[in-house]
Amino acid sequence: MNACLQAAELGVELNADNAMVWRNGRLYLLDQRHLPERGEYVPLETAAEVADAISSMRVRGAPAIGITAAYGVVLAARQRFAERPADWQGLLQQDLALLGAARPTAVNLAWALERMGRLAADMQGNPEDRLLAEARRMHQEDIEANHRLGDLGAELIRKKTAVITHCNAGALATGGYGTALGVIRSAFARGMIERVYADETRPWLQGARLTAWELVQDAVPVSLMVEGAAAARMREGGIGWVIVGADRIAANGDVANKIGTYALAVAARHHGVKFMVAAPTSTFDIKAINGSMIPIEVRASDEVLCYAGSRVAARGAHAWNPVFDVTPANLVDAIVTERGVVMQPDTGKIARLMAED
Ligand code: MRU
Repeated sequence: MNACLQAAELGVELNADNAMVWRNGRLYLLDQRHLPERGEYVPLETAAEVADAISSMRVRGAPAIGITAAYGVVLAARQRFAERPADWQGLLQQDLALLGAARPTAVNLAWALERMGRLAADMQGNPEDRLLAEARRMHQEDIEANHRLGDLGAELIRKKTAVITHCNAGALATGGYGTALGVIRSAFARGMIERVYADETRPWLQGARLTAWELVQDAVPVSLMVEGAAAARMREGGIGWVIVGADRIAANGDVANKIGTYALAVAARHHGVKFMVAAPTSTFDIKAINGSMIPIEVRASDEVLCYAGSRVAARGAHAWNPVFDVTPANLVDAIVTERGVVMQPDTGKIARLMAED
C-alpha cells in the first residue's frame, strides 16, 4: 500500500464531511481507526484493499461502507478491463463477491454493489469513467438524502431538549452530513438541542472518538457517557429523544444497529423518552420480513478481551462479541428517511414509503 497522506496534501480540510476523497485515480479514506488522534488518508487502489479497509474498520457506518464499495468497483473494473478487455465483467464478479463479504449487516453494501454491478453488466468499452460517475452520484445522493432527512427529523423535535445518541451515525459514517447526527445538526441549527449525550460505544469507541469529534467541530455541546449510564441519565430527566442510525431496517420496521441500541430503546420506552431512527432508504431491506432475518456480525473476541492491543480480561475468559442488535419496531417512535417520516412503523407503512419514488 502507498503512504498515507495528510488532508492538506489532498487539498481538503480535515473534517468529517471529507472522509472519502477520489484523487488521481485512487480512493483516499480518512482512517477512522486513528481518529481523532491522527487524521490520515489511506490510499486504495484495488478491490482487495477496499474490502480490507471495510472489514478492518478504516471506514465504517452503513452508508459510508456502501459508497466506499462503489468506488471499490471502479478500481476493480479498471484492473479487470486492463487484464481482459473482452471479458472483464466475468472477472468483476469475484471482486463484487469479495467486497460484498467485507461486512455482513450493513445492507447499504449489498445495495451499492447491486447498483454498480447492474450498470457494469451492460457496458461496452472502457468502464472507468462511467462507473466513477455513478459512484460519485451515489455519494452525492447520500449527502442530499441526509440533509433532507436531517431536516425532517429536526421537525419532530418541538421543544429544546437534550438527546442521547449511540455509536457514530455522523458524516464519517455516511457520504456526508450524517443520519442521526444529521438530525442533530439540523435541530441544533434551529436552537432545539441543549446537549448531546453520546454513548462511548464499546469496544471500538465510535462515540468517544468519532461522534464527540464531529460534535466538537460543530460546536454542539457533547457529554460522553459509558452506555451503561444511559438509563440512569434518562431517569434524571431532560432527555427528549434518543436518536440513532441503522445498518438495516426490515420490512416490518425492526432495526439493526450498533450493539446496545436495543437496550437504549427498552430504557427509552421505560422512561417515556421518544426513540428516533434516522436512515436513508438505501438502509431498508424489504426482503427481510422482520429482524430475525437480518444477519448479525460477530467479530473477534479480542476486541472485547483486549484494550488498545493489550489483554485486560482475565486469562481463561471467553467473550461474546455481536456488534449489532435488533430493536423491535414496537419500540421505535419514528423512522426518518429522505422520503418522509414513518411514525410507529409497521409493514404497511414501510411498504407505502418504499413504493413512493
Ligand atoms: O460497526 P460500525 O461502526 O460500522 O457500526 C455503525 C453503526 O451502527 C451506525 O449506527 C450505522 O451504521 C448507521 S451509520 C449512518
